[in-house]
Parts: sequence; structure tokens; C-alpha cells
Amino acid sequence: MSTTPAARPRPIEIVPSVLPADFARLGDECAALETAGVDRIQWDVMDGVFVPNLTFGPDVIAACRPHAKVMFEAHLMVVDPDPMLGAYVDAGCEMLIVHAESVTHLHRSLNRVAELGAKPAVAINPSTPIDAVSHVLDLVDMVLVMTVNPGFGGQAYIATMEPKIAALRQLIDQSGSAGASGSGIDIEVDGGISADTIGGAAAAGANVLVSGSALYRYADGLAHGVADLRCRAEAASRA
Ligand code: DX5
Repeated sequence: MSTTPAARPRPIEIVPSVLPADFARLGDECAALETAGVDRIQWDVMDGVFVPNLTFGPDVIAACRPHAKVMFEAHLMVVDPDPMLGAYVDAGCEMLIVHAESVTHLHRSLNRVAELGAKPAVAINPSTPIDAVSHVLDLVDMVLVMTVNPGFGGQAYIATMEPKIAALRQLIDQSGSAGASGSGIDIEVDGGISADTIGGAAAAGANVLVSGSALYRYADGLAHGVADLRCRAEAASRA
């Protein structure tokens, strides 16, 4: 088996969305997620225009940064991310996820993220084809395939995204691209990821799995939820 980064199997990562968290205690919530064993924390940044919801500015994230050591990633669901990229890096986000649909010059925006010292990633909504990212794979460390129409937590998983995930994995592997950092390209999914759906997404080729509502619904707590989701995803990825 080839040992190039591009061909190496990607490790499973469990990533919480903080949308369901207690917004009155976000710093403590980040600490609790880290204690629960998450691999990173996703901030769903929404501007009320790109998606019909409004959430976190950079100052909120900066206030939470000292409460956890895990990587922060900003999922930028905003109409014009370019002017605010620096503010989210300065707030402590190590990865910025730019929606392909939100910029005119995606290649330039992703290059800017790298110039700012952050890991670039690109997201595509359910109706956006994977061809939208085929010419920027060398500029990203991750591609996020949305498995809901973005804007709110608790929506139903769109299972018809699974062939799209598999096609994207094949596109990445066939490109031979090792991504922006040279260590390969992850596929993340976000939206409706639960004990019932994570297996399908992982089997299709996603290795970074974002869960919000379902993770917070685990009666036995966050640590149990993280472990259960990880176990299910790892089993499915090996099947
Ligand atoms: C877009 C958001 C949500 C959130 C996770 O709407 O990005 O997908 O992260 O939502 P759930 O609750 O479905 O895991």
C-alpha cells in the first residue's frame, strides 16, 4: 500500500458543534468538551444572510480560547468571509472553513487563510457538486460535505450525500494531492450526525464527523457520546 500522505487512511475525528451548548457558559462548555475527549471544536459562524441564523463573532471565540487546548475550527457560514478571516485567526481558530458558495475567488480566499497562518478548508452545501473544489485540493487540509442545509442544528441527515462523499474521496485519492499541509486531505461531514447516521457517513469516506444535537442528547454524558460515536465511525470505516 502506498505510504504517501495522500493515500494513507485518515484517522477518525469526533468534532462537536457548540450550537446546542449553554451559551451562558461557553467557556466551561469548551472545557467539558475537551475533557470528554473531542478532537477539536467547531464554531458555527452564521451571519443571518448566508444562512437564516446569527451566532458567534470572533470576540466570543476569543473569550473561550483560554478554556480549552483542542483545535478550534471556524465554519464560516457568511456571505463575505474575506474581510473577517484575520479576526477569526486572531480569536484562536487554527482552521477556517470557507464555503465555496460564499466567495467569488475561492482560490484567493483559501490562499489568504494559509497566509494568515491557519489551516484552510472548504465547505460545500448539499446541492453543490464536488467539482466546485476539484481545482483547490492543493490549497486545503479538509473538505466539508454538508449533510444538512446549513443554518440550524437538529436537522435530518441527508443520506443522499453518501455517494457524494465517496466520489469526493475518490477524487482526492486520484488527484494524488497531499493538501495544503502535505499530510493529506480529510473529509468532514456536518449535520444530522448521530449514532444512527455516523456509520453511513464514515463508510462512505468521511473521517472527521461533526455532531451537535445528537452528541448532547447522550443520557450518559458527553464522554460516553464521544466514545460511542468514535467507536461506530471506526467500525464503519474498517468494514
Ligand atoms: C449547520 C450547522 C449544524 C451543526 C450540527 O446547520 O453546522 O450542522 O453544526 O448540527 P446537528 O445538531 O445536526 O449535529
